[in-house]
Amino acid sequence: MLGNFTYHNPVRVHFGPDSLDQLHDELAEYGPNVMLTYGGGSIKRSGLYDKIIAILTAAGKNVFEVPGVMSNPTVQKLDEGRKVARDNDVDLILAVGGGSVIDYAKGVSVSAWYDGDAWEKFYLKMENPDGRIIPVGDILTMSGTGSEMNAGSVITNHEQGLKIGHVFGPEVMPRFAIVNPELTFTVPDYQMRSGIYDAFNHICEQYFSGTDDNTSDYMAEGLMRSLVHASRIAVKDPTNYEARSNISWVCTWALNTAIACGKATDWEVHMIGQAVGALTDATHGMTLSAVSLPYYRLVMPYGVEKFARFARVVWNVDDAGKSELEVAQAGLEAMSAWMDEIGVVKHLSELGFTEDMIDDAVKGTFILTGGYHPLTPDEVAQILRESM
Ligand code: NZQ
Ligand code: ZN
Repeated sequence: MLGNFTYHNPVRVHFGPDSLDQLHDELAEYGPNVMLTYGGGSIKRSGLYDKIIAILTAAGKNVFEVPGVMSNPTVQKLDEGRKVARDNDVDLILAVGGGSVIDYAKGVSVSAWYDGDAWEKFYLKMENPDGRIIPVGDILTMSGTGSEMNAGSVITNHEQGLKIGHVFGPEVMPRFAIVNPELTFTVPDYQMRSGIYDAFNHICEQYFSGTDDNTSDYMAEGLMRSLVHASRIAVKDPTNYEARSNISWVCTWALNTAIACGKATDWEVHMIGQAVGALTDATHGMTLSAVSLPYYRLVMPYGVEKFARFARVVWNVDDAGKSELEVAQAGLEAMSAWMDEIGVVKHLSELGFTEDMIDDAVKGTFILTGGYHPLTPDEVAQILRESM
């Protein structure tokens, strides 16, 4: 059943090997001052940086660089970007990188012209911007988060032990996104696997809620099937364009909120993963893979029907002679086997997370109510212990 919803995604996506050709025309819409922000140097090694500078120069732009955006960008780094954007009256923030750089650009976009404590307003209190917003455009180099086509921005505050994502409104979504799957060929193997699992979990978070017949769930199943198929090829053959292009497009669609239409949505795996991330600075997708199976095994009895459907449709589980509960369990076993196949982390101990962090991680985990079973703090602790 689809009730009331408004779906508005204004991001213009240019996809494919030649998509960078569109950057010149996109730049024409903005004033002369461009803040170019990127990560730790992969764009220089790949030669992408030189190509982008040439396009910016040909378009007559003044370029103000903010390099060094780290994975899981911090509140201190956010303040650095706000200052650059404001001091130079930036007209466009061009983010080149993965989710961290794009999330960061959105954070700068909403907060550069805000005088107060940006962390408190936009993340802790999750308020929406009520002042000037600087437009963002992105060139994606790593697929996973979906940040290229959504309004999410996740910032980490290590002092407070918190990692918080705020989903802003459509006005904060990138104006354009350039998605060239070939750029992802140089993504380190560990990051590629992490990105694949991140996207898979984004779909799960939106799929495992509700008992109604809902178009969004059928779309989610199609995306999962495509991702599982392509991931098996990509881990063996990372430069296989067919597989990488399908992975990139699934990642974008996994979190541009289309498959959340008409759904309650869960997001509890992300809440636990973010709490772990705040304490360890571990790679986002791997924090999710580490806690997923204990979480889904715990909530599955409350949503057997959907988990059994997941088993049949996504994993082709043979249900002959099995009860619905057994079918659902077999689905999670198939998912577990696929996780081994693509090589994602299944134990928090591999991420620098130790038993003595469990209490703080429980405190840092926001409890959401959209899934099949809202967790108690004791259950969060149990999941973390079982994930060790
Ligand atoms: O920094 P550089 O040198 O560029 O290296 C990066 C980084 O080390 C590297 N990389 C990216 N593209 C590359 C490449 N290396 C070689 N060749 C390339 N083409 O990959 C590493 C990871 O990059 P990062 O951007 O940190 O990864 P990801 O895309 O997974 O982003 C993670 C962040 O996004 C947040 C996460 O919490 C985390 O902070 N998320 C954002 C979401 C959103 N906006 O909706 C939702 C997600 O659930 C997630 O929470
Ligand atoms: Zn994620």
